[in-house]
Amino acid sequence: MMIKKIGLLFSLSGTISIVGEGQLQAALLAIQENNQNSSIQFQPIIRDDRSDPKTAAKEAYSLFRQENIDALIGCYMSSVRNAVISVLNETHGLLLYPTVYEGGQVHPSVFYLGAIPNQQVEPLLCWTFHHISSNFILVGSDYIYPRSTNKQVRHWIENAGGKVLSESYFPLGCINFDKFFIDLKRFIKTNRSIVIFSTLVGDSVHSFYNQHYRHRLPFTIVSPITSEREISKMDKAAAYGHICASPYFRSINSENNQRFVQTFEQKFGCTGSA
Ligand code: ACM
Repeated sequence: MMIKKIGLLFSLSGTISIVGEGQLQAALLAIQENNQNSSIQFQPIIRDDRSDPKTAAKEAYSLFRQENIDALIGCYMSSVRNAVISVLNETHGLLLYPTVYEGGQVHPSVFYLGAIPNQQVEPLLCWTFHHISSNFILVGSDYIYPRSTNKQVRHWIENAGGKVLSESYFPLGCINFDKFFIDLKRFIKTNRSIVIFSTLVGDSVHSFYNQHYRHRLPFTIVSPITSEREISKMDKAAAYGHICASPYFRSINSENNQRFVQTFEQKFGCTGSA
C-alpha cells in the first residue's frame, strides 16, 4: 500500500475560522472516502494559518520541508494563497486551492478549484440588475479578493448602464459598521432602489448583516462570498431576504448531494444551514 502525506492548511483560528473549519471538515471527509476505496492512502497533516498570510507561508514551508508532504490542500483568502505561492516557487510543491477567487492568475503549481467572477459574480450581477436594482453600493474587506473583484464588478455595472454609488473597504475582522450604516441612511431620502454588493469575509459578515437589520435599512444585500457557514452565525431575521450566489448549497436537491450531506453530518454533526 502506498501512503501519500497531504498537508491541510486552513484558517482554524482568527477571523476566517468560520469558513476554515468547514473547509477542513470537507477535506477530511474527502480523505476518509479516498482511504476507504483506494490502494493509495492519504495521511493528513493539519496546520492552522491563523487567518494570516505570513503564518500561512511559514506553515506551508514547514509542511513541505520538514513534513515532506506530497501535496497541500488549503487557503481561503487570496492574500493567503499568494503568500503560499511564494513558498511553492521555492519548494515546487502542489497546492489544491478550494475556494472562489478573483481570477487573473495562473500558477503551474496550483489547481484553482473555485469559481472566478465570470462564472459566479457576473450571473449574480445580471440577476440583481434585472430583479432588484442597477444602483450599487460596494462593500468589502480590505484585501486583494474584494478589491480586484470590485474592479471587475464596477466595469460590468457601468457597461450595463448601472451606477456604483459608493465603494467602501473595511479592515479584516471589522465588526462595527454603525458609522457606515448611519451614513448610508442619506440614500433612503433619494428614494432610489439600491442594492448592497458585499465581498466582506470572516467575522465581518454576520456582524454586517445583523447591524444592517438593526438599522432597519431597506436595502437588499447580495453577495458572491457570504456562504451558509456565515449565514448560520447571523440572527435569522437579519439573514432573511438577502441573496447569495455560490457554486454549492447544501440544499441542492439531488441524490448525490443528499448522500454527501448525510455523510458529512454523521461525521461532524449538523453545522447549520441557510
Ligand atoms: C478569497 O479571498 N478568494 C475568498
